[in-house]
Amino acid sequence: MTTQNYKTALQNPVFRTVSKATSKLQFDSYVIGGFVRDFILQRGDAKDIDIVTVGNGIELAQEVALLLPGKPKVSVFKNYGTAMLKTAGIELEFVGARKESYSEESRNPEVETGTLEDDQNRRDFTINALALSLNEDTFGDLLDPFNGIEDLKKKIIRTPLDPDITYSDDPLRMMRAIRFATQLDFTIEAKSLAAITKNADRIKIISKERIVDELHKILASEVPSKGFALLHKTKLLPYILPELVALQGIDEKEGQRHKDNFWHTLEVVDNIAQTTDNLWLRWAALLHDIGKAPTKRFDKKIGWTFHAHEFVGSKMVYKLFKRLKMPLNDKMKFVQKMVLMSSRPIVLASEVTDSAVRRLIFDAGEYVEDLMTLCEADITTKNPKKFRKYHNNFQLVRDKIVEVEERDHVRTFQPPVSGEEIMKTFGLKPSREIGVIKEAIKEAILEGEIPNEYEAAKAFMLQKGTAIGLEVVSTE
Ligand code: CTP
Repeated sequence: MTTQNYKTALQNPVFRTVSKATSKLQFDSYVIGGFVRDFILQRGDAKDIDIVTVGNGIELAQEVALLLPGKPKVSVFKNYGTAMLKTAGIELEFVGARKESYSEESRNPEVETGTLEDDQNRRDFTINALALSLNEDTFGDLLDPFNGIEDLKKKIIRTPLDPDITYSDDPLRMMRAIRFATQLDFTIEAKSLAAITKNADRIKIISKERIVDELHKILASEVPSKGFALLHKTKLLPYILPELVALQGIDEKEGQRHKDNFWHTLEVVDNIAQTTDNLWLRWAALLHDIGKAPTKRFDKKIGWTFHAHEFVGSKMVYKLFKRLKMPLNDKMKFVQKMVLMSSRPIVLASEVTDSAVRRLIFDAGEYVEDLMTLCEADITTKNPKKFRKYHNNFQLVRDKIVEVEERDHVRTFQPPVSGEEIMKTFGLKPSREIGVIKEAIKEAILEGEIPNEYEAAKAFMLQKGTAIGLEVVSTE
């Protein structure tokens, strides 16, 4: 076997430091996993570097730290026999080579030490088992017992062992396979795909946080639909996002069909991935139609309807985030808002009036552009004439948004007349009437009856107050 050398991957001086520490301790050490894979794929310099040592990972980390400038702190994870340190913007993780098969639930701190090959065997994919020597005499030599280099060239995801073993050792790897296939645009080999399908229900033992991490990475990819189609094909999706699975299928009644909202959703996600990197907006695209499954009805007069699906969908977003242990914070609220408003600009596009645009800006507030981005991605018609027409209409709405906002400033709407001023004018104590007047002023502005300005709003307030029987006691 000819030995390829990848010294050029190891130009960062930290690798020579690890090498020195390795010699001193008389261990053997290798850089392995994502760093090597990404170097060969030229995906830029990875900031996480995994070092495996035939020896003690914790001792090696401590020795490396002593040799590094500033002697960085070493974090030790005794239960896993690993240690981590940060230096010059990179994170180095150290682990001793192990023999036994990796176990998700293992609480056993005693791990049997193994050779480098034992350790490579128990890794997830051949492309992640590539190792470069950090030993002084063979520095940079590639160790690739499973032909991972060939798989990188052929763009194949393959497990070093029988895939049944690799996936049942750690079922998260089923999602990792799909995530890598999506991120790197690779193909999962047939045997592996079959093993994922067979073991799909084992995903239940994986923590929600780790699953969501993979979902984020799939969504952040260039063509996220690839990952969701694979999750669907392997039957993992019902365990993760049953709300999406429920969108699949086309019903026909009295000759009327509706579109398949699952495949439509995936198209929308791919569309939005071309225009934004905002992960939460991509989530909104993924979930924008989830309310359609529970609201689907057939009406003899109008055909298929999904009445109030945006409202139902936005409620489902909360439950879904909660189930997946995702943050129930402003990100979730943003996704809910996008789902809730996801039909508004489309309705608008057929007739763009100033007041409708003002209301849209008022309701969407600072997220009005995001909402437009989502709704444009929602255009998946295959009819080129319609496609052009919808996009042109959206451009009109966008132009109108700029024009109306420049004039009326309703995006961050603040009532031009305060509650205190209303109270003072009519000699009121805190009461319902104040709310009524404030709401009337807001409505008048949104409808375009008065401009969003103090003088006009004050005149309107006086008029409205007297109309509901209040007496002016001060006009200061
Ligand atoms: N690994 C594994 N099984 C897992 C997770 C990780 O075998 N379930 C191994 C792989 O060899 C992987 C390495 O541990 O390359 C490091 O894992 P991680 O940092 O999670 O992934 P990377 O491969 O570095 O890729 P990324 O940073 O894109 O997640």
